[in-house]
Amino acid sequence: MRLADRMSRLGTETAFDCLCRAKALECKMDVVHLEIGEPDFDTPGHIREAAKKALDEGYTHYGPSAGLPELRAAVAKYSERLRGVHVNPDQVVITPGGKPVMAFAIMAMVEEGDEVIYPNPGFPIYESLINYMEGTPVPVRLREERDFRLDAEEIASMVSPRTKLIIINSPQNPTGGVLTREDLRLIAETAVKHNIWVLADEIYSEILYEGKFESISQFPEIHERLIILDGFSKTFAMTGWRVGYGIMPVQMAEKLARIQTNMNSCTSTFSQRACIDALTGPHDEVDRMVAEFRKRRDVIVKGLAEIPGFRCKLPFGAFYAFPNVEGTGIDCEVLAHRLLEEKGVACLAGTCFGKYGDGFLRFSYANSVKNIAKALERIKELISSS
Ligand SMILES: Cc1ncc(COP(=O)(O)O)c(C=O)c1O
Repeated sequence: MRLADRMSRLGTETAFDCLCRAKALECKMDVVHLEIGEPDFDTPGHIREAAKKALDEGYTHYGPSAGLPELRAAVAKYSERLRGVHVNPDQVVITPGGKPVMAFAIMAMVEEGDEVIYPNPGFPIYESLINYMEGTPVPVRLREERDFRLDAEEIASMVSPRTKLIIINSPQNPTGGVLTREDLRLIAETAVKHNIWVLADEIYSEILYEGKFESISQFPEIHERLIILDGFSKTFAMTGWRVGYGIMPVQMAEKLARIQTNMNSCTSTFSQRACIDALTGPHDEVDRMVAEFRKRRDVIVKGLAEIPGFRCKLPFGAFYAFPNVEGTGIDCEVLAHRLLEEKGVACLAGTCFGKYGDGFLRFSYANSVKNIAKALERIKELISSS
């Protein structure tokens, strides 16, 4: 098969491969799914009803590339409430999930040799897309002893004349780390000083267990070089609906909308109508989900910490636990493989999130307390028999 060279540079998200393998194993053993990063809850009823109504009202056609004006306006208002910063609806671009914001932003600004600083361990698609677009990935290590918060001073020391973009993600996948207001202030200062864009992946903005959500957008000096990524997948348990959005300077929004015209024309219109209800309707189901995630977090972190050779930081947001397993003496990739094949516990090796994830495992606790307890028992069995 003759393919473009760039295909050899495209990475992947191993969670989807692991999910496939785990599903295949299900015909011969019971599998506990702690691999994929999606809420196990159903989308709240009022959102589903809004989608049905939208279908009956004829929202089955193409819409504007940047998104339905009513949803762009609802996102602007919601974001103002969440982040405390004024947003003009023209700054909002609606996309099929949050992921395209990453791809489109990197496509719009990264040229051959441009450097992009990004968290490692981190969401694997950042590195994949940087490589695909011929940029130079510059990973900044997230350290367990800093509760997996990026070190803003380290970022400043990595800046070069070729640095085009800094990607941040808080609350973070895979570690659950959360950046403080001071961390964000320092990162904003660096970006402004060197005229660098920032892509702030805030997809887990509402899944936070301590304090209030802090966004880098609170620093007005960064606004002309900031793209915020957020969406509906995680907060409203809507992964399959494929709706996300970016908030950015109006001129950049026009560019992203043009890329969208080229790539997928627009985002599903009846899904967008339902998203208006997600943002303006009752919030109690989201609150219930977050309370349930908190309970599960406490169960899994305590359980993991009791396993010989494991130690686990308390995640402050998102729904992932990221224990250090070096003390087991087993390579993390081998351990993830054995857990799935021998014990039916599907989880990911830290290296799925980059080289600095070595020595760790990632467990998504978007599963019931009962299943988490079952997984913990099985992990204990495997470790004690190894
Ligand atoms: C850090 C991060 N950003 C973005 C996304 C993309 O979410 P979606 O495209 O479903 O909105 C994910 C999904 O796992 C994620 O973990």
